[in-house]
This record gives sequence, structure tokens and C-alpha cells, in this order.
Amino acid sequence: MEAVAQNRTYHVAVIPGDGTGPEVVREALRALEAVAGSEQFKVELVHYDLGGDRYLRTGEVLPPSVLDELRGCDAILLGAIGHPDVKPGILEKGLLLELRFQLDQYVNLRPVILYEGVDTPLKGKGPDDINFVVVRENTEGLYAGAGGFLRKGTLQEVAIQESINTRMGVERCIRFAFDYCRRRNRGKKLTLCGKTNVLTYAFDLWERVFYGVAPEYPDIQTDYAHVDATCMWMVKNPEWFDVIVTDNMFGDIITDLGAMIQGGMGIASGGNINPQGVSMFEPIGGSAPKYTGQNVINPLAAIAAVQMLLDHLREERAADKLEQAIKRVVARDIKNLAAGKMGYSTSGVGDLVVKYVSGG
Ligand code: IPM
Ligand code: MN
Repeated sequence: MEAVAQNRTYHVAVIPGDGTGPEVVREALRALEAVAGSEQFKVELVHYDLGGDRYLRTGEVLPPSVLDELRGCDAILLGAIGHPDVKPGILEKGLLLELRFQLDQYVNLRPVILYEGVDTPLKGKGPDDINFVVVRENTEGLYAGAGGFLRKGTLQEVAIQESINTRMGVERCIRFAFDYCRRRNRGKKLTLCGKTNVLTYAFDLWERVFYGVAPEYPDIQTDYAHVDATCMWMVKNPEWFDVIVTDNMFGDIITDLGAMIQGGMGIASGGNINPQGVSMFEPIGGSAPKYTGQNVINPLAAIAAVQMLLDHLREERAADKLEQAIKRVVARDIKNLAAGKMGYSTSGVGDLVVKYVSGG
């Protein structure tokens, strides 16, 4: 078995992107190299120059040839997208959402886990209370781009933005959430987060599919919460949650709240998952232009994204090693997760992770 295991090679595409993306990706790749060395697998990296600078230089956002190449890799690591000189929407829609849609990464998986030693703004709550995962639908809903303007620029202007929910899209996301909840094997509880009292078409479908699939998972307890109540409970009783499944827009919003209660953007990571295809992992904070190039941003979220990437590639031991290293850094070394307040530089935090992964 070990002999087979020693020949594992993964092709990972790297998109450092904008702002602080390249700085955190650099540390994430050092951590990846270290853990690959200690777990005896190989990683072949291909870097892609995509993002605001390339767009400003050449007008290209996601050339079709790049997309084709990405389809052939084992996983993608993304730094950050967003550039102060590029109009909002161009890179977000043209690059990040385009990748999610074209690669059919239909789940956005976002763990909300508070590690020992990390401050949460929630008074009286600790690591036992804050440990859940959000399964966000990632290809439909308000993000699908349906809608348009009528009489644009006039006083009678109409702007329509429609939420697209297909049975196929809803069902595959909900099934993923049930399977994930079972595999996670923690609270064995799946909460559907919706708005059935107002969005009586979209969440009617979600609710019917949810309770239609549930009998196939008799070991999983089901629950339902409106999105506004979900926000309330995430603050008041986060221990009630194990896995939450929700649509694209609600998932976007509640996972920013989730990132805050787990200690901030310095630690929050996510995976854009296509279980049958190519998945992409990213720190969920933005490109943080004001910190660019200063070596002060926290790379742990990007390192946690690598952890998720390895877990996805079924390199569970390597993923676990990275998680242990992250836990050690936050419990013992860094004072604060926020940029500039860690007591270490970006590369200094990377050094610690590499040291711990390598057995130091
Ligand atoms: C996220 C981001 C993106 C989203 C933006 C940048 C398009 O906020 O990954 O949560 O809304 O999905
Ligand atoms: Mn977001």
C-alpha cells in the first residue's frame, strides 16, 4: 500500500489573483510543499496570471484557453479577486463566478469553526459552541444573472433580478449537505435556512426537496430556520448548528457572519466543490488592497484553504497535519488574527506552519 501511496502526484492550478492574494498564496504553497514532503506525495503547480492587473494590462478576464486548462487539473487554489481600479462586477462576475459556473462547482462549503485560543465576539461562547459548516448552493439563485433593465436611465426605470432555483440544482445541493452531515458525524443535524414565509416559490421548492430527500437519511435530524432567524441563532445559540444548507445569496451573507464569529477573515476559508469535477479552494476574505505588499496579512485562511483542498483530494492525513499546525499557531503563537496585529508577519506565520508540519 505504501508503495502505491508514494506515487501520488497532484496537478494544482494556482490563481494568486489580486491585492494580498499573492502574499497569502505564497505561504499556503510553502505549507503545501512541506506537508507533501512529509506525507510523500508530489504536487505540480501551474500558476495563472489572472485578476485585475491582467485585465488592466490586456483586457482579458478569463481567456477560454485558460478555462480549458483548468478543466484538466486536480484542484485550484485561488488567492483573492478584486482590484480598486476595476469597476465592481467585472472581475467578480467575469472570473470568480464564471469559474464557479463553468466548472459547475455547485456547492460552496464554508466551515465555521472556532479554534482554541481565538477570540470570538460572542460573549460566553467557545470552541465547543462554534463548530458548524455551511453548504451554500453555488451556481443558481440570485447569482444566476437572470433579469435586466427596462427603460434604463429614465424615471420609469425598472431593474429586475430574479432568483433561479431548479429542482436539479436544489436537489444536488441538498443531497450533498445530507451526505456531508453524515460523513462529518458530529451533531448529525441538518438545518435548511430559507425564507418560506415570503419567498413562497423558491423556498417552497427547497422545502419540498429537503423533506423529500430526508427519509433517505434517517440518521440525520432535520431542522428549518428562516434566514433572519438563522442570523439571530448564529449569534445567540451557535451550538444549535451542525450543518446548514441554503441558497446562494443567503449563504453568501450568513458565511460572512460565520467568519466573524470564528475569529475573522484571517482564518475563514471555503471550497467551491464539484464532486465529479474540478474544485477550487480559497480564503474567503477579499483582496484587502490597503494591506497589499506589506507582509502583514494573515495567511492562515489560505493555509486552511489548502487543508480543505487536501481533504478533498483524500489526503486526509496531510489535511489533518495542516489543521494541527494551524491550531497550534492560533493557540500558542499569534496574539490576534487581524492583519498587522498578529505579532508576526505574513511570512513569519508561514514559517511557523512549515516548522510544525515538518515536525518542529
Ligand atoms: C464570496 C464573495 C463573492 C460572492 C463575490 C466576490 C462575488 O463575496 O465568495 O462570498 O458573493 O460569492
Ligand atoms: Mn461573500
